[in-house]
Amino acid sequence: MPHEFVPGLEGVPIAKSAISFVDGLKGILEYRGIRIQHLAEHSTYEETAHLLLKGELPDPATLDAIIHDLAHHRRLESQIIELIKCLPEYGHPMDALQAAIAALGMFHPAKDVTDDARNFRACIRLIAKLPTIVSAYERFRNGAEILPPLDGLGHSANFLYMLTGEEPNPVSVNALDVCLILHADHTMNASTFSGRVTGSTLADPYTVVSSAVGTLAGPLHGGANEQVLDMLRDIGSVQHAESYIEEKMANKERIMGFGHRVYKTKDPRAIILRRLADQMTEEHGSTELYEIALKVDDVVTERLGAKGIYANVDFYSGIVYDALGIRPDAFTPIFAMGRVAGWLAHWLEQLIDNRIFRPTQIYAGEHDVQYIPTEQRGGNPR
Ligand code: CMC
Repeated sequence: MPHEFVPGLEGVPIAKSAISFVDGLKGILEYRGIRIQHLAEHSTYEETAHLLLKGELPDPATLDAIIHDLAHHRRLESQIIELIKCLPEYGHPMDALQAAIAALGMFHPAKDVTDDARNFRACIRLIAKLPTIVSAYERFRNGAEILPPLDGLGHSANFLYMLTGEEPNPVSVNALDVCLILHADHTMNASTFSGRVTGSTLADPYTVVSSAVGTLAGPLHGGANEQVLDMLRDIGSVQHAESYIEEKMANKERIMGFGHRVYKTKDPRAIILRRLADQMTEEHGSTELYEIALKVDDVVTERLGAKGIYANVDFYSGIVYDALGIRPDAFTPIFAMGRVAGWLAHWLEQLIDNRIFRPTQIYAGEHDVQYIPTEQRGGNPR
C-alpha cells in the first residue's frame, strides 16, 4: 500500500463520526445536525451535552434527570481537594486540571469500558466535576477558601458562584453557558483526536479526558485564547493596534486568535462570541481591551482575509471571559469544561466499533550503523 506523509494529517479522515459537522467554506457548524446558532440561542449546556452524548435532544423528563444528575455529581472527594491544595499556586491551571482528572479516575475505577450505562455515568461525573476542579484551583491559587457547589444552580451559574462566592447575574450566566456550548465539540480537532487515540486502547474515560486536556493546553490549540489577551494587553491602546499587527506580519509571526485549519471564512462561533462580547460591554461598559480587539479584528481581516484568515473562536472568547473577571490562564480550563462533552461523545463513539490506532511512519533514518563501545567514541575527555 503506498504511504504518503501528510503533515498534520490535513484532510486525512481518522474516523467516521456523527457528532459534529463543519463546512469551513460556508462557515457552518452543527452538533448532531443542529446549527450552532440555534443551540447558542435556545439551548443550555446541560441539554447540549446530552445531545452530543446521546445523539438527540432530551425530552423534558430526561432533561430534568440530566440537570439533577450533573448537580448530584459536582462535589469533589476531599482527597482531590487536598491534592489540589498540594499543587504549586504558581502552576498553570491546565496542569492542575489534568492532574486532578487523572487522580479522579483512581476514586472511580472504570477500567472495564464494556458497560454502556456505567460509561454514561462516568461521562456525567466528569462533565459535572470539571467546573468544581477548575474553580477549586482558582480559589486555592488566589488564597481564597475553596467553595462547595451550591444546590439549585445550573451548570454555568454554579461554576461562576464557586469561582466568585456570589450568585451571578443572568447576563453572565448566559454568556458562560453560550461559551460552553460553542466549545462543546468541533469535529476532529487535536484534543479530540488525542482522546480518541487514548480511548482506542480501551483506557478508562478519566485517562481519555486527561490526555485530551494535555493536548488542548498547547498554544496552537486551546492555549491561544490566553495568548490573545496577552497580545491585546501588549498592544496597550487602539492607536498602537495597526502598527503592532504590521510588525508581527513583517516578522512572519502568527497573530493569536486568527486562522483555522478548517475555516477559510468567518468562524461561526467567533461571530456569536463577538455579539456576546458586544452585549457584555453594553451591560458593563466598553473596555479599552475590547476596543483594541475590534481594531485588531478589522486590521487582520483587511490584511489576511483574502488568505482565508479570520478571527477564530479563541479571539472573542477571551474577551468574554475577561469581562466575567476570569484570569487569562484560566481561559483554557473553561474551554475544557465545554469540550469535555465532545471528548466523551467521541470516546463513546470510538468504543462502538473500536480498533486501536496504530498508524505508520516513513522511516528517514540510517540502517546498519555500527555500535562503537563507549571508550572508543570521540568527544572531549573530562
Ligand atoms: N497569523 C498569521 N498568519 C497565519 C495565521 C495567523 N494566526 N494562521 C495561519 N497563517 C498563515 C500561515 O503563516 C501560512 O501562510 P503561508 O502559506 O504564507 O506560509 C498560512 O496561513 C497557512 O497556515 P498553516 O500553518 O498551514 O495553517 P494550519 O492549518 O496548519 O494552522 C492554526 C491552523 C490554527 C494552527 C493557525 O492558523 C495558527 O497558528 N493560528 C494562531 C493560533 C490560534 O489562534 N489557534 C486557535 C485555533 S482555533 C481553536 C482551536 O482549534 O483550539
